[in-house]
Amino acid sequence: MLTNHVRTLQGFHDFEPNDDDFSSSVIKGLTEAQKTLPSKFFYDEIGSNLFDDICALEEYYPTRTELAILEKYKDEMAECVGEHVHFAEFGSGSSIKVRTLMEAFKLPLGYVPIDISREHLIQSAAGFSNRFPHIPVTAICADYTAKFNLPDLAEGHYVGFYPGSTIGNFTPKEAIQFLLNAKNKLGHGGFLIGVDLVKDHTVLNAAYDDNLGVTAAFNKNILARCNRELDANFNLDAFDHSGFFNADESRIEMHLVANQDQTAQVANKTFTFKKGETIHTENSYKYTLDGFANLAKSAGFTPAQAWTDDNEYFSVHYLSAD
Ligand code: AVJ
Repeated sequence: MLTNHVRTLQGFHDFEPNDDDFSSSVIKGLTEAQKTLPSKFFYDEIGSNLFDDICALEEYYPTRTELAILEKYKDEMAECVGEHVHFAEFGSGSSIKVRTLMEAFKLPLGYVPIDISREHLIQSAAGFSNRFPHIPVTAICADYTAKFNLPDLAEGHYVGFYPGSTIGNFTPKEAIQFLLNAKNKLGHGGFLIGVDLVKDHTVLNAAYDDNLGVTAAFNKNILARCNRELDANFNLDAFDHSGFFNADESRIEMHLVANQDQTAQVANKTFTFKKGETIHTENSYKYTLDGFANLAKSAGFTPAQAWTDDNEYFSVHYLSAD
């Protein structure tokens, strides 16, 4: 079935990271004084599906707020982006948001979804193709924070798309580095980026600690994934989900908190956890409009326009490369 999907694509470029990448990152992260696991490893098949469930939660405002902004201002965004564009989406997931924009784009030449989750990418790319048969799709399986290439273009130019405030997973310093790298890859094209904003802490805290426990399941899936793929034996009941806004750092932090003293084996290595000790699994930085514009400037972009919702919960920025 997947092979059939691949046939509907114009191109498929595979830079899928190997398993060693996951294994060595987990061992390195669990060896640090403050144990960490990189959030990019949330997104295996199960994690990507759990993330889709998060997006539908009452408490998780970013997805629907960003979608509404895209819907409302898609014509202005299309104007910024221009014609003959190959629209390269970093971390394309289910490729839902891009559909709204594509309805408004003039003469797009291609859609280039980039995602680390291979099967999810292939299915989503095929879904996009069915919906927009006239727009060629070139899918790229890659960890976009690592090495990968955007294919050379015969005509037109790239414009980047990075919705969902995924840029918030980087520290501001890393975010600047990411933008610099993206600018190199995109050439003269601009970048359309979704950025979550600082707001009432109650709203922020609820968005990362929902009542149904979906975010908790998403967070714990990283341990389940270690058990599935790395021959690990984490006891999932011995860790609790924690997600809260750290105002000093202007970021949500997600942790897995050991609720008892314990050990766990990962690939023949033993790690000990004291009761109350945490594994830091994610940061999700929240910006002000000016704060993000300044960050973009320090990466050499010119912030051309920004759109928000009436509550100023979320923002979408068009960064021009010249
Ligand atoms: C997809 C990274 C933007 O930080 O809000 C959702 C991931 N983590 N709930 C975010 C996430 C917990 C999400 N990003």
